Amino acid sequence: MSGRVLSDATLGEIARLRDAYPQAQSALLPALHAAQDQVGYLSPEAIADVAQALGLAETEVTSVASYYSMFFLTPVGRHKIRVCTNLSCYLNGAEEVLRRLCERLGVSPGETTADGRVLLEAVECLGACEEAPVVLADATRHARVTAAGADDLLRELR
Ligand code: FES
Repeated sequence: MSGRVLSDATLGEIARLRDAYPQAQSALLPALHAAQDQVGYLSPEAIADVAQALGLAETEVTSVASYYSMFFLTPVGRHKIRVCTNLSCYLNGAEEVLRRLCERLGVSPGETTADGRVLLEAVECLGACEEAPVVLADATRHARVTAAGADDLLRELR
């Protein structure tokens, strides 16, 4: 049995989520978000803690976590930059923004910087097409981003 990694605060949040739904499965996605927010990714220990807190099988929790691209089962950058490359954003310069971020960070989309600080991803529509091109830096959404704006965004992360 591996050691517990989730904090009392995270486990408390998961307990509140569990109580908010008639079925434990319904609390699974928000519980996984809470675990990932704390640990940075869903380690086997974090998965085990979530499973135990919700009374679910670890295999079920692992299969849900591995289904969704928003969850990471291996360590990734502490900061996550997501560039939408869907149609509206593509037509408004997302490729140039993504290229600039790749250059500045020294990574390709889907990779984490060598120092482990930043994960860069190209993603599907972020639901804010009227603000294209859109970049999500951690929880902050940036609208109408230009290549120069991408530089500013990176400075803000430091
Ligand atoms: S296409 Fe980029 S936010 Fe919708």
